[in-house]
Amino acid sequence: MKTEQHKNLIDYNTFGMSVTADSFVEVNSIEEVQQLIKQGVFQSNFFILGGGSNILFTKNFDGTVVKNNITGIRVLNEDNENIDVYIGAGENWHQTVLHCVDQDWGGIENLSLIPGCVGAAPIQNIGAYGVELEDVLTRVHFIDLSNGESKSLENKQCQFGYRNSIFKHSLKNKVLITGIELRLSKKHDLSLEYGAIKSQLEIENITNPTIKDVSNAVIAIRQSKLPDPAELGNSGSFFKNPIISTDLFNEIKKSNPSINCYPVNETHVKIAAGWLIEQCGWKGKRIGNTGSHAKQALVLVNYGGAKGSEVLALANKIIESVKEAFNVTLEPEVNII
Ligand code: FAD
Ligand code: EPU
Repeated sequence: MKTEQHKNLIDYNTFGMSVTADSFVEVNSIEEVQQLIKQGVFQSNFFILGGGSNILFTKNFDGTVVKNNITGIRVLNEDNENIDVYIGAGENWHQTVLHCVDQDWGGIENLSLIPGCVGAAPIQNIGAYGVELEDVLTRVHFIDLSNGESKSLENKQCQFGYRNSIFKHSLKNKVLITGIELRLSKKHDLSLEYGAIKSQLEIENITNPTIKDVSNAVIAIRQSKLPDPAELGNSGSFFKNPIISTDLFNEIKKSNPSINCYPVNETHVKIAAGWLIEQCGWKGKRIGNTGSHAKQALVLVNYGGAKGSEVLALANKIIESVKEAFNVTLEPEVNII
């Protein structure tokens, strides 16, 4: 294991922030993580890094960045209907989806083209186009950073919610995720409710889609509106879609009949943050080297050379104007460091 000092992280975060880490080390095995525990790395300031696609660095990191590269995919069990697969946390998420789709293992095709590593996927319970990781995840394996023990939690214990899990709360900074187990299906039950998937399949004249068709449709939809971080720095949706009371929703709808909502429970609904931001006039607006993306207002971008503090200042202005116009408080989805 090689520890590097004053490492520039520009190639390790999809926002493209040029910040340095005091120390930087890559781990390839559980044993290497245990060595770092013995060295006391996790007793001072540290940050566990996957693909860097859900973070905004606002300053140099005064501590050790531990980049997780623990890889490996193996089949644990299978029968005529299902297949249980173990996937190492350092595997690339999208490559894992493509691998599963190629094997005709269904369940994660709607989650195609989400950047980042497998190990971060349970942290915010990644979701897109009608599917969330919690729908297929059976177990999360991790190392307890206080003592180096390997432990695991089953799905129900992970407290999954919309962009939420136990790893953002009581286990935050306490564990390093080493792998996950998924139960995928051989008899496919496709999730096609999301309007954009239906329209994309129609455009392609596909009436009886395979999981490969669904994966391709999701990739096409995403490429049509989300900026590719290789071309324009970003971390996907900057804010979560807010969950508000039905009363507040009805009040907003009186003066904005075009607003849509997704039911959450009897008293609350989820609304599109992108819509709120667009109504406040931010869509496509650029301030210095940062701005809200022209095709998806919820995505804040780095046009090149932006500082994290500039992106954060823009985010705060957006939060203020959405609060003033709609009395809704947007919360960041991206981890601000
Ligand atoms: P990082 O950004 O490296 O880390 C994220 C957090 O997880 C950090 O707090 C980090 O400390 C922690 N972490 C990472 N690995 C570990 C580990 N092994 N153990 C413990 N903690 C760890 N997300 C969605 O849910 N749906 C989408 O549709 C979606 N679309 C996106 C589109 C674009 C263009 C981009 C840039 C991002 C998008 N995202 C989306 C957000 C992001 O891709 C996901 O949140 C992804 O899971 C982050 O993975 P990562 O490896 O890059 O995590
Ligand atoms: N909308 C606008 N203007 C915009 C953008 C969106 O009005 O500029 C409205 C439209 O009404 C649209 C609706 O918002 O119909 C929903 O937009 P979209 O389908 O693009 O999805 P989203 O709600 O903006 C969420 C996730 C994405 C995920 C997509 C697809 C969150 C915070 N974001 O975005 O996840 O890919 O749905 O399921 O939940 C991410 O987490 O980084 C991410 C990209």
